[in-house]
Amino acid sequence: MSDTSSQSIPAPEQPTDPPGAGRRNVLVEILTAFLSFIIVAVPSTIGGIFFLDPLVRGRKPKGDGGETGGLTGFIKLPVTADSIPADGTPVAVSVRTDQDDAWNHYKDVPVGSVWLRKTPVGKIIVFNSVCPHLGCSVDYRRSENDFFCPCHTSCFTLDGEKTNDIPPRGMDELEIATATDGQPNENGVELWVKFQNFRSTTSEKIAI
Ligand code: FES
Repeated sequence: MSDTSSQSIPAPEQPTDPPGAGRRNVLVEILTAFLSFIIVAVPSTIGGIFFLDPLVRGRKPKGDGGETGGLTGFIKLPVTADSIPADGTPVAVSVRTDQDDAWNHYKDVPVGSVWLRKTPVGKIIVFNSVCPHLGCSVDYRRSENDFFCPCHTSCFTLDGEKTNDIPPRGMDELEIATATDGQPNENGVELWVKFQNFRSTTSEKIAI
């Protein structure tokens, strides 16, 4: 009769990792982390570049003349030199241009208006139509053949000189250029104006 009281059942063998399994696990973890980084970083970087691009490149110059050699800062008017009356009668013209902010491009935005007239020698002069008194719009008064502001009765000659003491200065004359196909040409009929606004209520002409 055999004695079985001292015998014990052997514990089942624990499975052991095959050789090299630990290194494979580390590699898988590194690869997973790398792929996670790529999945997050690439779209974020592309989005960031797209978002910041306008700021990095800077804003485009305002005005149609922004990229035009000798007319930088000038805006092309929708009238030609030969359409301005030779008898000196002023013509009101709206000034419109494309504008950019950091992310948007706006086409044909009104930025102001001007009075154009031909002097007796055929030279074209241009005035900002904003009254230098308090900023109303100056009209042409046909009965008096002068410029007149209806808000507080400022008056100006057709050369822009003030004729009463209400406005602090004369009308604001602007720089004008003639051109052909966007290139400065003193015989061209395109009219380009360097449009600016100026501070009201001051005797000095201060651009704003
Ligand atoms: S705003 Fe033109 S007269 Fe006052």
